[in-house]
Amino acid sequence: MDKLIIQGGVPLCGEIRISGAKNAALPILAATLLTDKPVLIGNIPHLHDITTTMELLGLMGSELMLDERMNIEVNNRNVDRLYAPHDLVKTMRASILALGPLLSRYGQAQVSLPGGCTIGSRPVDLHLKGLSAMGAQIEVNDGYIHAHSRRLHGAYINFDPVTVTGTENLMMAATLADGRTVIENAAREPEVTDLANCLNTMGAHITGAGTNRIEIDGVEQLNGASYDILPDRIETGTYLVAAAMTGGKVRLKNTDPSLLEAVLQKLSEAGAHISCDGSSISLEMETGAKPRAVDINTAPFPGFPTDMQAQFTAMNCIAEGRAVITENIFNNRFMHVGELRKMGADLELAKNHVVVNGVDKLRSDTITAKDLRASACLILAGLVAQGETLVEQVYHIDRGYETIEEKLMQLGAQIKRLP
Ligand code: UD1
Repeated sequence: MDKLIIQGGVPLCGEIRISGAKNAALPILAATLLTDKPVLIGNIPHLHDITTTMELLGLMGSELMLDERMNIEVNNRNVDRLYAPHDLVKTMRASILALGPLLSRYGQAQVSLPGGCTIGSRPVDLHLKGLSAMGAQIEVNDGYIHAHSRRLHGAYINFDPVTVTGTENLMMAATLADGRTVIENAAREPEVTDLANCLNTMGAHITGAGTNRIEIDGVEQLNGASYDILPDRIETGTYLVAAAMTGGKVRLKNTDPSLLEAVLQKLSEAGAHISCDGSSISLEMETGAKPRAVDINTAPFPGFPTDMQAQFTAMNCIAEGRAVITENIFNNRFMHVGELRKMGADLELAKNHVVVNGVDKLRSDTITAKDLRASACLILAGLVAQGETLVEQVYHIDRGYETIEEKLMQLGAQIKRLP
């Protein structure tokens, strides 16, 4: 399993390009199952989760063509295996996104239950309840969701709690349903809006995406389309935190500042100078200045994203002062805390809070990445630690960050991948 070796202490400086958003690319790839016409998707990030999704589509009978710029053309005219096996779903929970489209277009689907995962229990009960309300018959046995239906019909769905992939799954299912579906307390994440925009380009009738009430008027069929994925706000935020922690100066291109206002606000509070120019964000720390500690409270969009919590925890470890981090979305998303302590960080964990007392320096150690965003956090910690940090099990990072060590090297980091 690959490892990363990082020599800490180098301020990150320079320019890099942000990739397309993983969490938009995954549902949009699933959405291609709603049509038998070709769909061309651009700005797809080169990631393991994308490869897994392509493998899943391929198993079902999709024809996929990839060009050298990572544009993917998906043609689902010959899909005949309406099945998502456990082996693939266990490596990527987002495989559950195949359920809504398969059921809506083909009237049946068999998808493995995602089960638990390292950051919490993460059930899919709300996806299933919503599809049942639209007329699907659903049974769960032997670890599989067995769903079938005649044409789905519109329904009134009220999510509690708000769920991102749940909103996406039902929105996709509703595009081909008979009548109007209303999703109340819908997720407002930009990736939900991106999916709705893509579906509308394919001929769907969706309004209200980006608000907490989405309405979908079902149509008889969807068409092919060409669509570019929006930039990855979590990748953007991760590199900004890396620059702030190391006292650097970076410019990130091909991103969108409006996608991460809560994150930019926290970075400014931490003492970073931020300027935005169209699709670029620049961040500069004063020479020699350490970031100030900032409290974090995760919340659904437009609140502070849970996917940035671990990175801000790393920053607070070496900040001036004391911060309280509160995780409100997932019940076990502090896997990084133990590893950060090994590096000399001062953290107290109680229920869904971590109190971080900033220390002068972190020391290097051998640390293990246990989930995607925790991996990012540990790499950031390695970038400021004294000496050489070895981050093990970096396959998690490859699920969600395109060529992370190359991008960090472009910013001057001393980082190397070892097999
Ligand atoms: C998505 C993102 C993930 C992000 C998360 C929260 C993708 C592929 N993944 O995950 O990166 O961290 O949103 O922003 O887009 N819940 C239920 N029942 C359900 C569904 C969810 O109780 O049927 C609960 C979850 O346990 C969690 C909360 O709802 O406590 C929010 O989860 P959800 O928004 O569904 O996260 P994902 O869509 O899995």
